[in-house]
Amino acid sequence: MTRRGAVTGSLYVYSERPPGFVFHEQRKGILRRPSDSVLYCEGLPLPKLAERYGTPLYVYSATAIRERLAAFEKAFRDVPHTICYSVKANSNLSILRLLARQGCGFDVVSGGELERVQAADRRAAKMIVFSGVGKSRDEMTAALKAGILLFDVESESELWALAECAARLRKVARVALRVNPDVATDTHPYISTGLHKHKFGVPIGSARALYAKASGVRYLRVAGVSVHIGSQITDVAPFAEAVARVADFVRELRADGHSVDYVDTGGGLGIAYQEPGLEFAEYVASYARAVTTPLRGLKVHLLLEPGRSIVGPAGVLVTSVLYRKQNDGKRFLVVDAAMNDLIRPALYGAHHEIVPVVQPRDLSRNETLDVVGPVCESGDFFARDRELPRVEEGDLLAILDAGAYGMALASNYNTRPRPAEVLVSGNSVKVIRRREKVRELYSAEL
Ligand code: LLP
Repeated sequence: MTRRGAVTGSLYVYSERPPGFVFHEQRKGILRRPSDSVLYCEGLPLPKLAERYGTPLYVYSATAIRERLAAFEKAFRDVPHTICYSVKANSNLSILRLLARQGCGFDVVSGGELERVQAADRRAAKMIVFSGVGKSRDEMTAALKAGILLFDVESESELWALAECAARLRKVARVALRVNPDVATDTHPYISTGLHKHKFGVPIGSARALYAKASGVRYLRVAGVSVHIGSQITDVAPFAEAVARVADFVRELRADGHSVDYVDTGGGLGIAYQEPGLEFAEYVASYARAVTTPLRGLKVHLLLEPGRSIVGPAGVLVTSVLYRKQNDGKRFLVVDAAMNDLIRPALYGAHHEIVPVVQPRDLSRNETLDVVGPVCESGDFFARDRELPRVEEGDLLAILDAGAYGMALASNYNTRPRPAEVLVSGNSVKVIRRREKVRELYSAEL
């Protein structure tokens, strides 16, 4: 376990690494210089970035992303595997390109994501898996033309639709059925997927019959089995349990005469938004043991679809305090970011650590307040009854662990342009998405 420098007693104390980060390395890219009191992303101070690019602003550390992918690669180095980064977590082209350059594959869930990956790297198609419960014929046709690695098929109807598209193009579709292992996970109900009551996958009990049907179809090739039990899962035991069921199933399928080259274990490894956690390399290693042990001896190629654990801790959302406000006894900080920029607190009640970008001089003046945005909904908050050091109007706050499902879920609600995004590597910074202009938000309207 690593200790984080965080809220100690009533004092908010910065350690050499910023507080609130659970995995030691995960904050590596977002370092604060010990000699001063300003939050940095790699070599660059956030106030400078905020001044240059405005707020709200997503800031990502390229080094942190690379290192986290490298930690995955290292943890799985003893087994044949491909990491297929889950594009939905953060689909910015520059981030996809950065990952592609490191040899990463991709998990896509729509024709749009497929097109993004192709735009980021022409050669990435052969390392794409296509997941999702409702792929349209157009999307499947585009994926077949691109020559993707694998379709994770989720129902019998989808299987026949894929067969039809493949036959029309005379192209073979490699297929894995996504099985639903009926494994419970301790995560938010909206992002838990591994139970029969969820819409995902084919019950493992009835999948065998479907494999038998698929194997007789000319343009389908049974190639694997896939599973994904949910997201933000920090206990590795349910992964082991799900993969153990898949391993038994692979043995059955082989006994039936199917060739099973791939096992896709999905994504879902959580990050520690709040509580201190294991050092990242150690944590991924324990995840790797959980996933690979049940597959030992099966000689399959493992596919992994991590999203959040690669990019989540590598990004922060920088926002300015617009107003301090008090309604009777209740205090608020109204900031310039809102639920449209980062919806996780509003949608899942998710916790994100929030730190002042410049450490206030007087650390004895903590206060308990709500951090809220300008959108006209009471659900528009980033923190409720949170103890923070006193900050003033005009000060900057960093909302941590915002690299995954932050910008990807951003909207234009209240006709608010989405934030700009910048990617820092060492001492250099690149705008990877410019801030939208209001007129662009209504330009498609007739
Ligand atoms: N593979 C499949 C089939 C998935 O459905 C997902 C996520 C992943 C991989 C990537 O999971 P990850 O490694 O990122 O946990 N918006 C929610 C998370 C939704 C996750 C949906 N599926 C949030 O902000 O927590």
